[in-house]
Amino acid sequence: MQLSIEHGELREHACDLLILNLFKGVMKPGGATGAVDEALDGLISKLIKQERFEGNLGETLCFHTYGYLPAKKVCVLGLGEQKSFKKDTLRKVGGYVVKIAKEQKVTSVSTVLHGAGIARMDATVAAQALGEGMLLASYEFREHFGKGTNSKKHRRVDAVTIVEMDGKTVKAAHAGLEKASLLSEATALTRDLVNTSPRQMKPDDLAQSAKALAKRGNPIACKILDAQAMERMGMGAALAVAEGSVHPPKLIHLSYTPKKKAKKKIAVVGKGVTFDSGGLSLKPADAMTQMKIDMGGAATVLGLFRALEELELPIEVHGIVIAVENMPSGGAYRPGDVVRAMNGMTIEILNTDAEGRVTLADALSYTVKKVKPDEIVDLATLTGAVIIALGDDYAGLMSNNRTLAKSLVTAAKEAGELVWELPLAPQYDEAMKSKVADMNNTGGRSAGSIKAGLFLQRFVDKTPWAHLDIAGPVFCEKETRPDIPYGGTGMGVRTLVQYLEHAVS
Ligand code: BES
Ligand code: MN
Ligand code: ZN
Repeated sequence: MQLSIEHGELREHACDLLILNLFKGVMKPGGATGAVDEALDGLISKLIKQERFEGNLGETLCFHTYGYLPAKKVCVLGLGEQKSFKKDTLRKVGGYVVKIAKEQKVTSVSTVLHGAGIARMDATVAAQALGEGMLLASYEFREHFGKGTNSKKHRRVDAVTIVEMDGKTVKAAHAGLEKASLLSEATALTRDLVNTSPRQMKPDDLAQSAKALAKRGNPIACKILDAQAMERMGMGAALAVAEGSVHPPKLIHLSYTPKKKAKKKIAVVGKGVTFDSGGLSLKPADAMTQMKIDMGGAATVLGLFRALEELELPIEVHGIVIAVENMPSGGAYRPGDVVRAMNGMTIEILNTDAEGRVTLADALSYTVKKVKPDEIVDLATLTGAVIIALGDDYAGLMSNNRTLAKSLVTAAKEAGELVWELPLAPQYDEAMKSKVADMNNTGGRSAGSIKAGLFLQRFVDKTPWAHLDIAGPVFCEKETRPDIPYGGTGMGVRTLVQYLEHAVS
């Protein structure tokens, strides 16, 4: 979708559909909506009364202009209460603009720079949030549709034009729209990777996607280690998980090196289980259907690197993923097995479905030993328990470092993504005891997400580290806001960018 901003007057602007706005409870519109109302001899004010338009967020009032305005149709979009209007409201507003255009069957739509008028938000900030909402809402994944899909019925919005009469505002908005477009592209990459059927997203496919990010001439490099190389490094834990699959594991190591001297070195680690059947501790059929999402953390890491390509941050960033498929077979690792991770710790496998932490044990060990970063953030669809605790919308945050935890909470807030911190309660660490090895891989049912976090903590040594359990928000089953359509959400990409930007500001 093409997103642009134009310097001009709304009453002179010709288009198929013009989307204006109104705060809740306003009977006599001001600003841009007021100007159009005036040009239409108060038609909007009349309709607000007649149609009992309340201005709730997402509510619409649409009408034809029959030649009284160069815009053929006008929709007034409710913004909700002015006092609760914030940056994240604008993402939703952007999403509604795209949704309304689809409903009104137009392929191009014009609108205003919502938020920059009566709400007096900074034009760059408003444009970014609005742009993110529009672009994220226009995302579609049509890769797997075939002959059976009627593409004639398919509605798409090709272009959104923002019309703004103030030249200075136009200029300021430009930067915001650029940023929105970069972040949306990065998020779309993550969504694509998650949405792709697991048949087309084997460990090697994920590795190839990472390789593709490191084209010659850009600041990103990508190294892939195969099973033999992983073996030589002593990654007995991750390799055990991979044993059940005929598709061999890959270790992906992306790195971004800034042109200027790096102020910090940060590693981002993602869980990359391309399909999680549970292994011999097989999942029930219903729980297995969605398990292509189990490489969501890895997909977020790749999305981040898509953004890093253009952000020019003065930080050395490393992205580490161990990609494996967790399958049952005659060669699969078993409950009762003891495996040894790269850092020398041994793990008694009690449940082959707690495979995420077993692969991350090696990914984190590798990161600590080979990368030696100042900070590690990992993202993983690690536990079903985090969905029980926090629901579908929140990622669970756990950290061994207060400063890092705080900066991630702040970053997520800015990015409009939801995270909630859970305690790494040391008294639960005991649940990991094993009679035959250094630890077991399950820890029992209660506080499942925290115990998984405590398990990971054992593999980061003293490095400041934070863990985001994204099992809930990685995928959207039921749409609750227009900028997050059904499917992979790309949750985490924008939080990570915000966190990295803040780390050097
Ligand atoms: N990939 C799953 C976690 C998951 C569940 C993600 C639902 C998204 C939606 C993970 O590998 C897993 O199976 N965890 C087990 C751990 C248990 C065996 C200790 C779980 O949560 O049940
Ligand atoms: Mn599992
Ligand atoms: Zn898993």
